Amino acid sequence: MCGIVGFTGKKPAAPILLEGLARLEYRGYDSAGIAVFKNDKISVKKSCGKLQMLRDLINDGVDFDSTVGIGHTRWATHGKPSDENSHPHRSQSGLFAIVHNGIIENYASLRKTLKKKGYTFLSETDTEVVAHLLEENYTGDFFETVSKTIAMLEGSYALGILCKNNPDEMYAVRKSSPLIVGLSDEGNMVASDIPAILPVTRKICYLNDNEIVHLTADSVEIFDMDKNKIEREVKTVEWDVSAAEKGGYEHFMIKEIMEQPKALRETIAPRIKDGQIHLDGINLTKEQLEKVQRINIIACGSAYHVGVVGKYVIEQMCRIPVFAEIASEFRYADPIIDENSLVIIISQSGETADTLEALRVAKKQGATTLAIVNVVGSSIANEAQHVLYTWAGPEISVATTKAYSTQLALMYLISLDIAQKLGRVDDKYVGKMLSSIEALPEKVEKILKIAPEIEEMAQRYAYLEHAYFLGRNLDYAVALEASLKLKEISYIHSEAYAAGELKHGTISLIETGTFVVGLACTERLVAKTMSNIKEVKARGAEVLLLTCEDYGVHSEEVDHILDIPTTHELLMPSLEVVPLQLLGYYIAKARNCDIDKPRNLAKSVTVE
Ligand code: F6R
Repeated sequence: MCGIVGFTGKKPAAPILLEGLARLEYRGYDSAGIAVFKNDKISVKKSCGKLQMLRDLINDGVDFDSTVGIGHTRWATHGKPSDENSHPHRSQSGLFAIVHNGIIENYASLRKTLKKKGYTFLSETDTEVVAHLLEENYTGDFFETVSKTIAMLEGSYALGILCKNNPDEMYAVRKSSPLIVGLSDEGNMVASDIPAILPVTRKICYLNDNEIVHLTADSVEIFDMDKNKIEREVKTVEWDVSAAEKGGYEHFMIKEIMEQPKALRETIAPRIKDGQIHLDGINLTKEQLEKVQRINIIACGSAYHVGVVGKYVIEQMCRIPVFAEIASEFRYADPIIDENSLVIIISQSGETADTLEALRVAKKQGATTLAIVNVVGSSIANEAQHVLYTWAGPEISVATTKAYSTQLALMYLISLDIAQKLGRVDDKYVGKMLSSIEALPEKVEKILKIAPEIEEMAQRYAYLEHAYFLGRNLDYAVALEASLKLKEISYIHSEAYAAGELKHGTISLIETGTFVVGLACTERLVAKTMSNIKEVKARGAEVLLLTCEDYGVHSEEVDHILDIPTTHELLMPSLEVVPLQLLGYYIAKARNCDIDKPRNLAKSVTVE
């Protein structure tokens, strides 16, 4: 989604803004622009297409000596990708320039009013309305004007605002769209994500919703909407710029796949001490849990797929009914949620618009809410009652891998914690499970060693047009993720099916050469899955089977077999997803796809 960066400092802003925008490219964008001061005016430069086009247009920013500026990468929502629709947007006379993430919901009525007052609109965006509104509300006082203007806006927004008459200052606002502040001796920054500020500083402040920040080269002041000053703790980002760089890998995706053992260790190790589960941030008591009659796991995309695994795991361990739900459906479903519901929200970014709204719906209806989040200080982390962080580090590739794996690890620990507190499992079971969870990183390491074998195998599937992933139970949950992984980065049409469901319609699509990936890692269901695999094989499918050596599948039953190590049956998804991530990656690589930034996709989906 769109990215914002702003700088007020003691050195030229333009190169810093371009560097910041480069570090936000991963979020997905189709145009970019910057605004800086030049000859007592605000100069705006923007270009549709890749950031390099903007760089070429402004000679890498070296011609600007302004030390204050704002920059933006736009992912089109209102209006097509074009130079006119790109940000920054200027007000009628050029008094203000702004960058905006989010959606101004009442833009149509504001636009109508402003048009009547003589404002001319150069773009189709909702953002331009805010620029003109600032000019319309201008009182001569920058802060007062910002404050009056945002009081008239409905919707979600992170804004960076420059005023021609205040060339040493910038205001930024956060409402339901991420924004952080970076502080350094060289100057101060705002950005929609941490990587953008890391080349300048690791000292940051998180902004909360409905806060306004005023920045100069030497000061940062945060205010609420009533202009009361707020004190905010300065934190240090634990990771440095190299964590958000490729470090010798060809793509962020493969780097992040390879980082999974480390991410798993860092997520798991602090939560298991002396054979006991320690879930920092969660203090659900036995009494509270005894009241829970249903659990809803709500998320989008891959995070939802973790929820599907969670459904099987929690139901088996805790014997509580669990519903895994897609956030965009849940929020409009008039859900049956009350004070006896536990709602588990999963999100890497912590900013996904539908997931955030689902969390709000659940809270409003009295549920206890628990969020699994990767980005510290994100909206979902701020708003959920209980938060558990996946210590995966920054995930830059649009297609998630290490965030998925660490979410899964936390899902296991949460399930086990609930089961233990409710007395549904005994200490021996807990001990055995914890040892198996602790052993996962090493097993993942072992699987990663077969990457060259998978790369070779991927060559033969690179030119396929369709793929089907089949599995039962937990294998089906992993099939959902494996299929999404393949289709989103390789653009091969792919579907995941519950193996037993195929013959109720979809099997009619199977013909000679159709690519089928069978997942047979849920031991008690291997024979059942294999009978479905034989059905597609009999119709000519080319079958790649993922299974475990000990499960007794004969190699002649399929075309290719990938064997992985075993662990407790409920934990198998943590292992089986890894070769399938690699398969998707290497197929996409063989097809020469833009793996880290697949077309039309954004890393953080902050619009509905
Ligand atoms: C797929 C992928 C997406 C995200 C989804 C939710 O590889 O990454 O499906 O899982 O957009 O995003 P978060 O977890 O940030 O809420």
